[in-house]
Amino acid sequence: MSDNSLRIRTSATVANVTCGFDSLGYAISGLYDTILIKSKNSSGINITINGLNAKGIPSNPKQNTAGMSVISLLNKLGINQGFDLHIEKGIPNGGGLGSSAASAAAAIFGVNNLLGNPLDLNDLLIHGIEGEKVVSGDAHADNIAPALFGGITLISGRNKLDVIELPIPSNLYSTVILPDLVVNTMEARKILPNQIPLNDAIYQARNLATFIHALHISDFDLLGSCMEDLFAEPIRSNLIPNYNEIYKISMNEGAIGFGISGSGPATFALCSSEEIALRVGSSMSKFLINNGIECLTFTSPINKNSTVILD
Ligand code: HSE
Repeated sequence: MSDNSLRIRTSATVANVTCGFDSLGYAISGLYDTILIKSKNSSGINITINGLNAKGIPSNPKQNTAGMSVISLLNKLGINQGFDLHIEKGIPNGGGLGSSAASAAAAIFGVNNLLGNPLDLNDLLIHGIEGEKVVSGDAHADNIAPALFGGITLISGRNKLDVIELPIPSNLYSTVILPDLVVNTMEARKILPNQIPLNDAIYQARNLATFIHALHISDFDLLGSCMEDLFAEPIRSNLIPNYNEIYKISMNEGAIGFGISGSGPATFALCSSEEIALRVGSSMSKFLINNGIECLTFTSPINKNSTVILD
């Protein structure tokens, strides 16, 4: 690539991870968005889109997650430089696998790089969230953080968000099942309860704290004991066909824990080996296909290098 262009690839991500609503996320391998970014001689952002469901994605930069993230970044830096963004979608929209975050992360990472890296990853996060607002109406950072940083991430802070990179136990594998359905994130946030009973909030706080500790001491039994979500899963699981059945299948096949990926309809299972992860994925997908639901399965270790410069 020349000095004024870069190709960046960013992977799909699993957000919430049961007990970490709007806080936890991890990056997977095997499913990516790629963006070719070119500096222009004029100002403004031009967007072209190819690939999965490209026709349904707005190319108006202010309505596009990558475009809005870059606009926010350039405004912050007071820079008039324009960019062409050519987005190659590999991650389906509305699947719950951080499709919008991947495009946003790739775009801001690449533009920042072409500008000589004036911002660090934590600063870029703020601009990535501006892109998330376009699609979900809310400033959640649990997809954009693992998309930018890779690995397993925890969002910390309230107004000023920071990212904590969590340890990744060796042999931790993820299996994601993506049914052939779309769930709109904005709608899936609207159906959530406005208030959570105190006892549920306490239990969820215990689960999240236990999850973090279990990662630190690589204890898969402890990890499994706390992978429960009392905030979103009770209502969102109704949007996912055969949710309870595939939950049971994953646990019977030896998963550490199972839950909804982001706002769904993708689901994920964490597993203690590649062999178990492949078995869990295969049993869940067989069940869904036998019940008339087409689906894709992605099994991988946690991806430590989610955003990479290809050339
Ligand atoms: N935490 C967000 C939600 C992720 O569950 O709405 C959306 O992918």
